Formats: sequence, structure tokens, C-alpha cells
Amino acid sequence: MDIRITPSILNADLANLNLEIAKIAADADLLHLDIMDDKFVPNKTWDFNAAHEIISQSPLPVDAHLMIEDPDLQAPKYAEIGCASVTIHFEATQKPRQTLQSIRKNGARAALALKPKTDFQVLTEFRNDLDMILIMTVEPGFGGQKFMADMMDKVSKSRDFIGDADIWLQVDGGISVETIEIARDAGADTFVAGSAVFKAPDPAAMVLTLKELATK
Ligand code: DX5
Ligand code: ZN
Repeated sequence: MDIRITPSILNADLANLNLEIAKIAADADLLHLDIMDDKFVPNKTWDFNAAHEIISQSPLPVDAHLMIEDPDLQAPKYAEIGCASVTIHFEATQKPRQTLQSIRKNGARAALALKPKTDFQVLTEFRNDLDMILIMTVEPGFGGQKFMADMMDKVSKSRDFIGDADIWLQVDGGISVETIEIARDAGADTFVAGSAVFKAPDPAAMVLTLKELATK
């Protein structure tokens, strides 16, 4: 199984973002970009134009995680401007199948995210439209929260559901040296890590450590 580490820049040093990204560019697999609108979640990050600038300058392929209330309108645009993957939240989309298909048509991997209270079952009708599943292991909105180990049942169920399909299984929230193996054992193969990477004295070394732990 291929293992991917996708550092989130949410809690990186935003005043020196290019330098922060450069630190992990050689070792990380994708750059996880958290887009928040202060409506779907109580926090705001980059708008489309600001995100576009980051995406066009990124040395790494970008994994956009849209925590916004109108993903059906915006997700295809994120695919069009070159994101490698675009994730929409099941709780926000009105037209999940159509939007997932439109992300793909615009050249990105299409992904559906589930908040902690959303049941695994909602995924099952989208197997043919998905390239990645994101199981949130914290309530979306902020970095630095505690990993919810009780989400591992949802991760295992997703792994069984994926079977031999080419669907990545991502976890996001509280991933660190203490928790990554728990998520790996449950079946995750793609790991977002925000504070664990960017609060580490050596972010690149932390990416490699996380990858090694998840690969064992
Ligand atoms: C939270 C975001 C995460 C966040 C993770 O809503 O989706 O990507 O940056 O941060 P850590 O790894 O610190 O939990
Ligand atoms: Zn995220």
C-alpha cells in the first residue's frame, strides 16, 4: 500500500509561507490546503484568489480540503486551477455525485470528507465517483486538536468498503508520532499532519518520521 504524508499549512508560519512549504517540499507527498469560510466551520482561511496564488506557486501537488458551505460551486474551480485533489464535505454539498464528477472532469482526484458525527454509510452510493475518502479525526475548523481514536471504526469500515478500488483513505486531525500508527492499523494510507509537522523543530525530519511509522 502506498503511504502519503500531506502536511497542512494551517498552523505554519503564514508570514513566511513559501519558506515553510520549501522545508517539506522534498519529503512530503502533497500539500494539504484547508479552505474555511467562517460559515461551514467557525474559522476563516484563504479565499479563492489567495488559494490560487498558493496553488500556482506550490512545489508540491496540492490537496485542497474545502470546509465551505458552497462546495458545489467552488470545488470544480479548485480542480481547474491545478489542485491534485479536491475534497468536499458530505454535510455541505447539495449535489455530491455531480460535484465529484465535475472535480474529476476538471482533472483532479475527487474526495468526500465526513465529519465525526457523519455515518460511514453515506459514502456507499458514491464508490464509482470517489478517488479519496477523508475521515475527520477531529471536528473540522482548527489545528492542534486531540485525535479522536473512536473514529477508527469508521476508518476500518471505509477500508473494507474500498476493497480493490483505487481510492485513497485519508485521516485529518491530531495525527502525530503518537497516533499515526493507530490510524494506519485501522486502514488509513494518506495522513494529514499540521501542527505535528510545522511545530516540529525540523519539519522535514518529522515528515520522514511519520512516513516511516506509517510504513512499518
Ligand atoms: C482541521 C483541518 C486540518 C488541520 C489539522 O479542520 O482540516 O487539516 O490543519 O491540524 P492538526 O494536524 O494540527 O490536527
Ligand atoms: Zn484539513
